[in-house]
Amino acid sequence: MTSKIAVIGFGNIAKAIITPLLDKKIINPKDVFCLVNSKKSLESIKKNYKYEVNIFQANSKDSDIVWDCELKLLSVKPQHFREIFDAKNKNSNANLIISILAGVSIEKLEKKFPNHKCARVVTNVPIKIGKGLTGIAWGQEISDDQKQFAKKIFDSSSKIYEFNEDYLDIFLALTSSGPAIIALIIEALSDGGLSGGLTKKLSEELVMEMILGTIALIKEQKLSTAEIKDMVTSPGGTTIAALRVLEKKSLRSALIESIVSASNKSKEFS
Ligand SMILES: NC(=O)c1ccc[n+]([C@@H]2O[C@H](COP(=O)([O-])OP(=O)(O)OC[C@H]3O[C@@H](n4cnc5c(N)ncnc54)[C@H](OP(=O)(O)O)[C@@H]3O)[C@@H](O)[C@H]2O)c1
Repeated sequence: MTSKIAVIGFGNIAKAIITPLLDKKIINPKDVFCLVNSKKSLESIKKNYKYEVNIFQANSKDSDIVWDCELKLLSVKPQHFREIFDAKNKNSNANLIISILAGVSIEKLEKKFPNHKCARVVTNVPIKIGKGLTGIAWGQEISDDQKQFAKKIFDSSSKIYEFNEDYLDIFLALTSSGPAIIALIIEALSDGGLSGGLTKKLSEELVMEMILGTIALIKEQKLSTAEIKDMVTSPGGTTIAALRVLEKKSLRSALIESIVSASNKSKEFS
């Protein structure tokens, strides 16, 4: 990737997206142009960030260079969206803004940046270790070349799914909230092991290995989840005793509703 990338808001999630690109030398630090709000963040990044990217304070005189980049990743908190210097009539139509802001629609982006093409992205925390999932919804009139360029930011550290914007809320619920739900399930199952006398460490290890093994089995043998369930559930056995409890406590319904609820919340933010 040779072109310059601007990062408007070089905070936690922006670093999680940009650092793997620098680690893998997909982009050169000298081609990354970042904006932050405070002097404190500016100095901290200069001092502590492991790459020497170009970094500027928002609204400083020399920060215009950031807005000249062909591709911009917009990654401030949603409440700071209004404060962003509007690059409107300054840049040409060749520019593309990719926003990761929760709850800011493509329509709002296109109003704010009328001379830019706009896309909206949802990604999740495993992107930090190259195992992320990224959903992209494209705004109007984005060329194939621009799409390819934009996708390069995410495809080295995540699997990319392209959607109509309407599906980004449910994608966010499943993939961005999902890690918290899975972490809670791991914790609860481990507590079950603890109740049976295992140490917390061993219990957690067993749960995680069991989950990884089950996923591998489903994938490698192309089994359905129902087939896995039948495989380990014998008449009058231990598994049906466990499943009976989960049905009684409505676990299945609770999980479905948790995703619907997260998706509705995301729609509410928009
Ligand atoms: N799409 C997703 O999957 C996903 C996942 C997680 C988060 N997010 C979104 O990511 C965004 C950032 O979250 P975060 O956790 O990374 O926040 P963060 O760590 O607080 O980073 C925000 C960054 O924006 C900078 N900033 C604030 N006002 C600015 C301005 N006017 N001009 C330029 N830069 C400005 C901040 O600088 P200072 O440090 O100086 O204030 C900071 O560097 C949020 O909108 C959130 O919704 C999206």
